[in-house]
Amino acid sequence: MTKTLLRALAGETLPTPPVWMMRQAGRYLPEYRATRAKAGDFLSLCYTSDLAAEVTLQPIRRYGFDASILFADILLIPQALGADLWFVTGEGPRLSTITSAGDMAHFKGKDDIHDTLAPIYETIRILTRELPAETTLIGFAGAPWTVATYMIAGRGTPDQAPAHALRDGDPETFDALIDLITGATIEYLSQQVQAGAEVIKLFDSWAGSLNGDAFERYSLQPIKRIVTALKSRHPGLPVIVFPREAGDNYPGFAKAVGADCLALDTSVDAIWAAETLQPETCVQGNLDPKLLVTGGQPLIDEAQRITRAFRGGPHVFNLGHGITPDADPENVHVMLDAIRSA
Ligand code: CP3
Repeated sequence: MTKTLLRALAGETLPTPPVWMMRQAGRYLPEYRATRAKAGDFLSLCYTSDLAAEVTLQPIRRYGFDASILFADILLIPQALGADLWFVTGEGPRLSTITSAGDMAHFKGKDDIHDTLAPIYETIRILTRELPAETTLIGFAGAPWTVATYMIAGRGTPDQAPAHALRDGDPETFDALIDLITGATIEYLSQQVQAGAEVIKLFDSWAGSLNGDAFERYSLQPIKRIVTALKSRHPGLPVIVFPREAGDNYPGFAKAVGADCLALDTSVDAIWAAETLQPETCVQGNLDPKLLVTGGQPLIDEAQRITRAFRGGPHVFNLGHGITPDADPENVHVMLDAIRSA
């Protein structure tokens, strides 16, 4: 096996960690902005397979990352299930909302999403032909809790209050929604793997707003159901999980859900994680994306501190969250040089 990402996910300690970045195809790159303008808008870009493949390849050409993440969005599943979805420029996603069972009555079943999502599978097939032989292709989806927070509130929220309110006030509807998203996500990711995705990543971006039993029930259990189903259908498939801001719930999480790698957010200290989490599992992370805006010696120092902290075990170098539109593309080269010379 020569692909460095697959080697790290299999538990190998490498002299230099494989590197990729969350949101590596994105607005900080002029070539991304040009292709998005050609597509018209963000969703058209997601559903136009040749352009989505093009923006997926752009950061690979520019930086030679070890992994490439499919260009799509975690909110395409809600749209495929029948929710309305649109993006407001400069603000983010908007969806129809869910306040009672009636708002889900017109939704499709978990197996009826593939007509809408077929262009995503085609993007993957194009990428399997066009990616360099050493680059690993990562497919992804949102975890059910995070996707549910957007479907319920109809937008991103600082505290996920509408989702918590539905969970408390109408648990039957909430559970039915989590179950539907979980089932659809298994079918969606299974098709991604059939089309050529070699690794799957699950983003639970709002896992940090769940505690205790609620964390176990709505972050951990649905993710475990997805990982278990995928691994039984696709034996040996590596899975990365990202329970962002899970804090005390990070230890034991990868093992509990059956994942191969635990992605760490910016708040996790690398030295602590190397002692506590890395003996259990491969870890991914966790440079603060702000450093790619500000650059300079602090960027070099921190990239090297993280690389050195995780040197004793399997590690995938990444950011603690997505790279932001105001990042300087040159700083990514500075980061790569720092990692390689650490
Ligand atoms: O390069 C990659 O990482 C692959 C593609 C990818 C996108 N979104 C493209 C995108 C991935 C893996 C995602 C995941 C995603 N999408 C998450 C989980 C990770 C996280 O950030 O916590 C979430 C919560 C979403 C939902 C979403 N999509 C939001 C809240 C927004 C608006 C915020 C923003 O950054 O603008 C998006 C839009 C989005 N998704 C963009 C991109 C490149 C920017 C759209 C544009 O071009 O205007």
